Amino acid sequence: MISETLREARRYEEVAEQYISESDRPAFHLSTRVGWMNDPNGFSYYKGQYHLFHQYYPYEVKWGPMHWAHAVSDDLLHWTYLPCALAPDSLPDRDGCFSGSAVELPDGRQLLIYTGVVSAGRRMGELENVVQHQCLAVGDGIDYEKYVGNPVLNGDDVPEGCSKEDFRDPHIWQEKDGTYRCVVAVRPADGSGMILLYSSPDGFNWKFESILAENKNRFGKMWECPDFFELDGKYVLLTSPQDMLPEGFEYHNGNGTLCLIGNFDEETKKFHDEYNQAIDYGIDFYAPQTLLAPDGRRIMIGWMQNWDTLAMIRMKALWFGQMTIPRKIHIKNNRLYQWPIREIETLRSNKIVYQNVICDGELRLEGVSGRQVDMTVSIRPVDGEDIYNKFALWFAENDEFHTALSFHPSDSIMKIDRKFSGTRRAVIHQRRAKVSHRNGALSMRIILDRFSTEIFLNDGEQVITATIYTDQAADGIKFITDGKVMMDVEKYDLI
Ligand code: FRU
Repeated sequence: MISETLREARRYEEVAEQYISESDRPAFHLSTRVGWMNDPNGFSYYKGQYHLFHQYYPYEVKWGPMHWAHAVSDDLLHWTYLPCALAPDSLPDRDGCFSGSAVELPDGRQLLIYTGVVSAGRRMGELENVVQHQCLAVGDGIDYEKYVGNPVLNGDDVPEGCSKEDFRDPHIWQEKDGTYRCVVAVRPADGSGMILLYSSPDGFNWKFESILAENKNRFGKMWECPDFFELDGKYVLLTSPQDMLPEGFEYHNGNGTLCLIGNFDEETKKFHDEYNQAIDYGIDFYAPQTLLAPDGRRIMIGWMQNWDTLAMIRMKALWFGQMTIPRKIHIKNNRLYQWPIREIETLRSNKIVYQNVICDGELRLEGVSGRQVDMTVSIRPVDGEDIYNKFALWFAENDEFHTALSFHPSDSIMKIDRKFSGTRRAVIHQRRAKVSHRNGALSMRIILDRFSTEIFLNDGEQVITATIYTDQAADGIKFITDGKVMMDVEKYDLI
């Protein structure tokens, strides 16, 4: 039985999407069908396809009572929208279906676990006396029925002193023995973040296992959207902390992302982190989720946006929110590496290669331009010459606009700057990251889509992601150096 709220959302999105032209969307990144998108949800492989749900408010380009949108893909690049999967239409989720995840049940149905939000009402537009608890819905890949036993985890299932208001974003997986586990974020008494571990024999009956990890006020406050998995012999906890303070060039203010790498003790069911790093060093990245692909790859996708830069919203657009390119992740030298999924290579055409080109000042290369681009640039000092002072790459460029990536080997700082990208809002437009290089030698792979850039440094050791809403006519690319830089460039159009 489909509720009137869900039916209305499905009806609305079908009509409203017709007012958005294909050319006003990213070419190969998933954007919201209409209205508002935030976190990826339920990223999974089910019935022979990749499924991606997300936080969704169809009716306006701003956050509202949360629904779950739904899309499927064979290659993680071409997405087909499916009807809205969840609407806030039952008692335990009447004020929102917040973030969650998906798993396949033994009988072939798909189980969604998400946070149901209930509040006592609104004051000055804000929800008051909020309760967050974990709910289930079961479906066939299109229609989902809310579980009659909802909520399956509530404020009684959290340790003493933990908030019943900030208890959300369950991430589920199945163990080898067929049982299920999930991690859920909660705000403990110290006001910071904590990740709880629960287990279930069947996906429906849940019990508290342990406090898996504690922030203890090290990285921001509340930790949102946890994901926990084994990767290359280590355990990885991904989470998105709110209210971060900056720490060198590793963590920036506001909503950030955190990757903890360490070990999991099956006896105590505790995670011990050994290494920490930001997941992305750009401007627009938050709330990533991963899935395990049938071929064993661990693939991560994130919301290509950040709560602190929402004013980048385009005035007349009927959609707001994109996902990043899906990224294969692995661990090397105790760091998380990310690389665009290999499927993107099927979009490549018009290969252009330049080797050992010297840039000394300003340079444009014939054929090197475009807004749907996969380009690798490797730079190094020229043999026998002093190390250069600065290397910069301008893209989405014309007389009026550009976005700049610049690197100074003397302090190892890479900066992205989209201040001249056409934005008329005073949000964060620049970010700096400390990057590794060998005496001025490093490589960068730049993926451009119509409204974004993702820069993978040194085989994926660091990634810089940012949205840019520059007029598509600005499709120039140029190189600018202070001192001589030797470059290899390999560029493809992505069609
Ligand atoms: C993270 C988040 C989640 C929550 C969702 C609500 O971006 O705040 O913690 O479930 O967004 O839309």
